[in-house]
Amino acid sequence: MKYVKLGFLLFLLILQACSLNAQEWISAPDCDGMPIFRHTYRIAKPIQKAQIHTSALGVYTFSLNGKEMDDDQLKPGWTDYRKEIFYQEREIPTSSFRGDTLCIEAQVSRGWWAGGISRGIYGRDVKNAFICWIDLTYKDGTTERLATDSTWQCATDGPLLMGDIYDGETYDARRRPQRWLNVVPNTDPKGRLVPEMGPKVKIRNANLWRKPQLVTLYEGSRPTGTTYGQINVIRSLSHFAPILLKKGQTLLIDFGQNMVGWPKFNVQGEKDTELTFRFGEMLNYNGDEGRLDKGPAGSLWTYNLRTAKATLRYTLRGGGKSETYHPRHTFFGFRYAELTATSDVWVQRIVGQVVGSDIHEWGDFNCSNADINQLYSNIWWSQRGNFLSIPTDCPQRDERLGWTGDTQIFSTTALYNSNAKEFYRKWMRDMRNSQREDGAYCCTAPAANMWGYGGSAWGDAGIIVPWNVYVMTGDRQILVENYESMKRWMQHCADQKELGWEHIGAETDFGDWLAYKELEKRYVSYAYYAHTSQLMANIAHLLGKADTTYYTQLHADIIHEFQQRYITDGKINTGRDTQTAYLLALHFGLLADEQRPTAIQALRQNIENNGYRLSTGFVGTGILMETLTECGLTDLAYRLLLQRENPSWLYSIDQGATTVWERWDSYTLSSGFHKHEWNMNSFNHYSYGAVAGWFYSTILGIRPNPSLPGFAHIILSPQPGGDLTWAKGHTTTPYGKVSAQWKRLSDGRYKYTVNLPAQTTATLVHNGDSIALPQGTRRHTFILDL
Ligand code: BGC
Repeated sequence: MKYVKLGFLLFLLILQACSLNAQEWISAPDCDGMPIFRHTYRIAKPIQKAQIHTSALGVYTFSLNGKEMDDDQLKPGWTDYRKEIFYQEREIPTSSFRGDTLCIEAQVSRGWWAGGISRGIYGRDVKNAFICWIDLTYKDGTTERLATDSTWQCATDGPLLMGDIYDGETYDARRRPQRWLNVVPNTDPKGRLVPEMGPKVKIRNANLWRKPQLVTLYEGSRPTGTTYGQINVIRSLSHFAPILLKKGQTLLIDFGQNMVGWPKFNVQGEKDTELTFRFGEMLNYNGDEGRLDKGPAGSLWTYNLRTAKATLRYTLRGGGKSETYHPRHTFFGFRYAELTATSDVWVQRIVGQVVGSDIHEWGDFNCSNADINQLYSNIWWSQRGNFLSIPTDCPQRDERLGWTGDTQIFSTTALYNSNAKEFYRKWMRDMRNSQREDGAYCCTAPAANMWGYGGSAWGDAGIIVPWNVYVMTGDRQILVENYESMKRWMQHCADQKELGWEHIGAETDFGDWLAYKELEKRYVSYAYYAHTSQLMANIAHLLGKADTTYYTQLHADIIHEFQQRYITDGKINTGRDTQTAYLLALHFGLLADEQRPTAIQALRQNIENNGYRLSTGFVGTGILMETLTECGLTDLAYRLLLQRENPSWLYSIDQGATTVWERWDSYTLSSGFHKHEWNMNSFNHYSYGAVAGWFYSTILGIRPNPSLPGFAHIILSPQPGGDLTWAKGHTTTPYGKVSAQWKRLSDGRYKYTVNLPAQTTATLVHNGDSIALPQGTRRHTFILDL
């Protein structure tokens, strides 16, 4: 009897499953235009609950009964679409139902799927598509699924004429879709649909938005003896007030901050007036081509965008009403916006909205040196601008890719700054999905046909990022999720050989990228291979895997070979005296104890001989300050931090930076823009901003202990220095906020105060002494010698 009942139940379940419509990916019958998909359902019975699931191949917005459902932006976000596509899920409030109808409308644009950014990785001429299913529970207890299928309609003659990550957006407010066609199923090869994870992309909190700081109205240019002359200024205002922009004139808005997002504006003008916004990070300085200016002095400089058009066009509906708009299918990296119009138009309001992954910003730092504070702010703005669905290298030019090297270099800093754990967990999923058969991680994740696979210090991100997340949060999950993939990467490294050399590590694509003094790339791959084998030994041990012995032995073998190859008479010998060679060897433990003092001395000497300037690129700079501190060279770290000459962090501040630049000398007041054959010159690139990790760990003295991760045990070791007279700040841990501050006293000592979360233990480490802090008291004050 029991079995009969069970069988009947099963039959009912199957019956119900069959009555559910299987959702289909739907596309427009032709590829031209940005498709709008629509369906109106008649709802026969009162609704108890309705759950909608939506996704697109491309970027989409959608509405229900005319009400926009877009509190999160640039959906579905970027993943490796060959493997996985996120869908968004939300409850439809019953108030959204209009009587007995439910109309769903979605606008899809090229996005990361069909735009230039994918570089054809998902196929040539792939089509945009939409998918949706709604699970309804009626008040009478019955359920139904409504889903995209051949009964849906689409139109490609709506107001959105173009939406593209690189190129921008074209919107014609006069247009309403007229020609509704039947959809076709989308058969492009693609990944499976999975629920989204990680922080959503949002228009960030209004307190981050930027108002215009300088508004310049100009018309044409006049000669000044330089290549392009200078703009003819009609009016210049240090704040925004409604302004009439006439045909032939240009309105240039300086938001005072290099940022990522878009402008939101209100305008009033004649129907058919077309507005064109262009965006840039810099202005032409004096119109001299020799400085790589590309237009008259004072006008917008867009040369570093390369092929990205980054343009917003809006055609007015007119009719005497004010029109409000902001893009929804692209984002811009900009400090300046330039606006022109085909007829006179009143620009009534404009604000720069910040768009990015909505991550809780939980760190702060402040000190007595205003330039360092500016640097810290610049680092923050570069993090904000480059955390948009994935960690990007830069947000403006025709890249905006998840470059793996940049990601690992900045990850600890980001975790001090913010609650980035889920963001990195999601990105590691992209890493796994983009991993090649032979275990090589792609140099960008998600993979995008931009570069290859396997570069050392770049691919190694697959191990370093999860490790950093673990150390900073104490959460092993990211290690568990990635362990098999990490092993495959290690095997890929193990498979690389050179004549006579067994343990060379990954490919030598990038070396110490953009260094002032380059280091042999092979040296970098050895160093990283040694480092990751050590991390793998730790991780295997933590997860109770039998591989611990293998990785421990591998680590010893790599170091042995490194020593044979690069150590002569106890000294590092690469043929060139580079800072990064010492830093890697010291930080990654590649030297025998007795070899360290010589290397430390040589590093000191190198920095001194170099006029207390660094000469490191991405790889060296990422570990520079921590290594100096580990080696007892914190005095040098402060000298580098406070250095104003090129190359240094403050050099860019002196040239007017409001974000971190790709190069130490991306722009110099004296000679203009950096000249590089690939025109690779971003003004919003966070890698060198990794220095902020040291602000927390060394200036404030808040360090995690990898053996008791996630700040379960906090190592407090502040090292005041330079001309700083005070510093204060905090980060947040799984246990709560940790704050620290110090102030120099008149007798040369300093007063250090910390607030620690309950349930943590801490040890103060100072001048070789360790003091375990009494449990119970959570606020501690010390008077310390320098
Ligand atoms: C990116 C970098 C990246 C590099 C690798 C560049 O084009 O902008 O930040 O790491 O390529 O070579």
